[in-house]
Amino acid sequence: MSVPENRLRIAVQKNGRLAERSLDLMREAGLRVMKGANDLLYRIENHPIDVLRVRDDDITTFVADGVCDLGVIGLNVLEEHAARRNGPRPEVVMRLGFGRCALKIAAPAEATWQGPEALAGRRIATSYPGVLQSWLRERNIEAEVVELHGAVEVAPRLKVAHAICDLVSTGATLEANGLKAVETVLESEAVLVRAPGGPPEAHQHLADVLTDRLRGVVAAQG
Ligand code: PRP
Ligand code: ZN
Ligand code: MG
Repeated sequence: MSVPENRLRIAVQKNGRLAERSLDLMREAGLRVMKGANDLLYRIENHPIDVLRVRDDDITTFVADGVCDLGVIGLNVLEEHAARRNGPRPEVVMRLGFGRCALKIAAPAEATWQGPEALAGRRIATSYPGVLQSWLRERNIEAEVVELHGAVEVAPRLKVAHAICDLVSTGATLEANGLKAVETVLESEAVLVRAPGGPPEAHQHLADVLTDRLRGVVAAQG
């Protein structure tokens, strides 16, 4: 994949919950998105901008490393990335008002919740070990964190863990698995991020114009 050096690059999610809304946002900001033969790279017809469509973990890496100037990512993914990786991290420019969800601790619905301290010595299954570990550390709780990459909600039933820490949107998945949310670890939504220290000089003006337009779009949607 060759990417011309002079074009501003924005990284967005290729598949997943934020993917469609991220492109809609670009359109609402006046960008004419041209879907090309290359599914990884969309061109903006009316501005020197390329949209890279990648996996959400990779958005954080590309923006942190300055490979992309801007990115649209869930705060949950950004925080997990930052918790796991030393070095520069993308800067949050603004919240985008969509993709709202929360990272929560959930436990079997029938059990009485005794507070976070009750997690001491227990196993917690999660796809967010970094964020969970720092939440536990802040509370001086020593628990065993079990990393799973999906189907986290079945872990208590399988006796893999006593509790879980996963994203909750409607709450339907928790309910279907006999779990209830007991603590909120992180409130999340989609955010616009930029490379540490901002884009290079050549992209500064365009990045500012686009950011102002996006601010207008988000404000209008209230
Ligand atoms: C996410 C998340 C929860 C669920 C929450 O899973 O991991 O399981 O959505 O949504 P709800 O509260 O509306 O039920 P997703 O379906 O994206 O799949 P994944 O866990 O395999 O990533
Ligand atoms: Zn991941
Ligand atoms: Mg899930």
